[in-house]
Amino acid sequence: MFSGLKKRWNVNGWRLLLILITFAVAGSATGYLGKMLMSFLGIESAWLYIIIYVVAITIIWPLMVVLVSLFFGQFNFFRGYLGRMGKRVFGKKKNPASLPLTQTHPEPGPKIVRIAIFASGTGTNAQKIIDHFRHHPFIQVSMVVSNKPAAGVLGIARKERIASMVIEKEKFFRGNAYVDELKSYQIEFIVLAGFLWKLPSRLVSAWHKRIINIHPALLPKFGGKGLYGHHVHEAVIKAGEKESGITIHYVDEIYDHGETIFQEKVLVENGDTPETLALKIQALEHAHLPKVIEQVIQSVRN
Ligand code: GRF
Repeated sequence: MFSGLKKRWNVNGWRLLLILITFAVAGSATGYLGKMLMSFLGIESAWLYIIIYVVAITIIWPLMVVLVSLFFGQFNFFRGYLGRMGKRVFGKKKNPASLPLTQTHPEPGPKIVRIAIFASGTGTNAQKIIDHFRHHPFIQVSMVVSNKPAAGVLGIARKERIASMVIEKEKFFRGNAYVDELKSYQIEFIVLAGFLWKLPSRLVSAWHKRIINIHPALLPKFGGKGLYGHHVHEAVIKAGEKESGITIHYVDEIYDHGETIFQEKVLVENGDTPETLALKIQALEHAHLPKVIEQVIQSVRN
């Protein structure tokens, strides 16, 4: 049962324990406060008592959960959890077929090329891509996909009114890899912009040469499992490299391995730290990634 919950909520054992404690403490506090309220109101009629009690605990419980989750450092999880419950109760399904369409092209015709951005982090690159294609005549960012319910990139999707989907490990690696959902959304290109899971072969073969990744170093150096984010820049500086850069490449079934589409270099100067190098690399990413995506899509269309 517990391993099922870990997979379902994508958390480790320690976090699961804190989540379960939050449920237990919030549940007890809700019962206690509900009883106190009822004795304060002094209602005698049994049916009225039941109705008011049910309404009271329905209101108190989410408040308690939020309060207790703050105490146990699980606010982000419960924000997502309560949001999902709210959607279920009020009828908004997370099924991609019912997700809102991007506002820029309210009635996409058959000529629109739809992109899904996969990201696990803050999504500064996702934002640049969205900005770049906002008024594009035939390319549209139609969906943002993340494996982390609290990822900043999902906030960007909400703000931009782009459909989003939070994916679960079990279904991604041992189910259909969300191929059907992405197809039902007519996604033609996938851009990985800080997505940390390796793609299952099912997904890679369904979008052969139509999945693009950006890596913050000059591949084939400093790539592979575990080499992401600041780990890459630390490794580059530790190795005494004189230059680093970005690589935009097609995705195959091996981490950071597919055919290179574009590279751009930057000098690693004396005194550079992983943080200063990260800033230089990020500027390169923002400047080039949207344009390279556009060129790739144009070349397939021509
Ligand atoms: C970028 O550095 C990209 O190269 C790597 O993940 C990072 C994503 O950053 N694959 P952000 O979330 O777009 O800021």
